[in-house]
Amino acid sequence: MTAAIQRRLDIPEPQKAEQTELHPDLNRAHVRFIGLGKTYDGKQGPVAALQGIDLAIQHGEVFGIIGRSGAGKSSLIRTINRLEQPTSGRVLIDQVDIGEFDEDHLVALRRRIGMIFQHFNLMSAKTVWQNVELPLKVAGVPKEKREQKVRELLELVGLQAKHKAYPAQLSGGQKQRVGIARALVHDPAILLCDEATSALDPETTQSILGLLREINQRLGLTIILITHEMAVIREICDRVVVLEHGRIVEQGPVWEVFGNPQHEVSKTLLAPLQHALPPELQSRLHPQPQSAEDAVVLRLQFTGTAQAEPDLAALFSALGGRVRLLQGGVERIQGHALGQLLLAVTGSSLGVEELRQRAGQWAQQVEVLGYVV
Ligand SMILES: Nc1ncnc2c1ncn2[C@@H]1O[C@H](COP(=O)(O)OP(=O)(O)OP(=O)(O)O)[C@@H](O)[C@H]1O
Ligand SMILES: [Mg+2]
Repeated sequence: MTAAIQRRLDIPEPQKAEQTELHPDLNRAHVRFIGLGKTYDGKQGPVAALQGIDLAIQHGEVFGIIGRSGAGKSSLIRTINRLEQPTSGRVLIDQVDIGEFDEDHLVALRRRIGMIFQHFNLMSAKTVWQNVELPLKVAGVPKEKREQKVRELLELVGLQAKHKAYPAQLSGGQKQRVGIARALVHDPAILLCDEATSALDPETTQSILGLLREINQRLGLTIILITHEMAVIREICDRVVVLEHGRIVEQGPVWEVFGNPQHEVSKTLLAPLQHALPPELQSRLHPQPQSAEDAVVLRLQFTGTAQAEPDLAALFSALGGRVRLLQGGVERIQGHALGQLLLAVTGSSLGVEELRQRAGQWAQQVEVLGYVV
């Protein structure tokens, strides 16, 4: 929370959580979870949706939350505006423990934390303009100020021309733009997005992500987003956390987690981003060489930890023989080169182990996949 919000919320000093000596970043965190737990009373008994969550999200970050269905993502994000009440632990916003808030403080808090949803949650009987204006009306903002704000926001999301339209007359992307405008009416410091692009086609997703990035940069908002689309995380997030059975199993900068996922769940979630072996090649691949002329197939992974992009001429000459490129590519995430190359090496005087080791001077991980005729 900014000083302005704290003034609005009128938070007395003593409620400020004690500063920690652990790490300076924790004292500056925008949102911090400490030992957070959430247990629901399910029909078949208690459901532990979150357990021992310790996490800090910094100001101005675009922070991604991923995990399988039921991992606890929505439960976690909803504790930030207290749509969910934690069972244990604490949530601090700008070092203020929101667990202490009474109803009035909560109303103020929720105004300062915007939220957008997969299914947009628009009022079908109200126009675009009225949908965006409604939360301002509820908050008792005078007409003139409301009009100025709605106009400003519809311009930001590029919907000025549609202000008289009803939700049914809008495309999915346009509906989400209304949702975004509505989430921003109270100048929030945090924007929560729960599967905000999941109902959209890839092109529309791109345009909504572009808008979110613009909002993040122009307004300096902290954005916390849940998505099952890994490409969305790769595209706009700074850091990502992976949840499984209500616990954090992995977290880090996107390039690091995506470049070299450690946990089984992260690997599974990120598998769709990996280029699978072409089926035709897979079917020709043998675990052992059939003859001395067989090519060794190597997979070189670049996990973004090296300073420079791989020097292919140097790599090929180090491997010796003929090196053919079967598949591959390198992309940049947050300035780090990530990707893989599938190479077929024939006629090299080196043994398989030596090929692997030499390739390891250029790539962070090297696997011998097998042999092809
Ligand atoms: N109101 C509730 N009552 C009982 N159990 C609940 C409730 N809400 C969530 N749960 C359970 O808590 C666990 C975490 O749910 P949550 O909605 O946070 O998962 P999620 O990661 O958002 O999943 P998805 O990707 O499917 O949206 C699940 O096992 C879910 O069934
Ligand atoms: Mg969910």
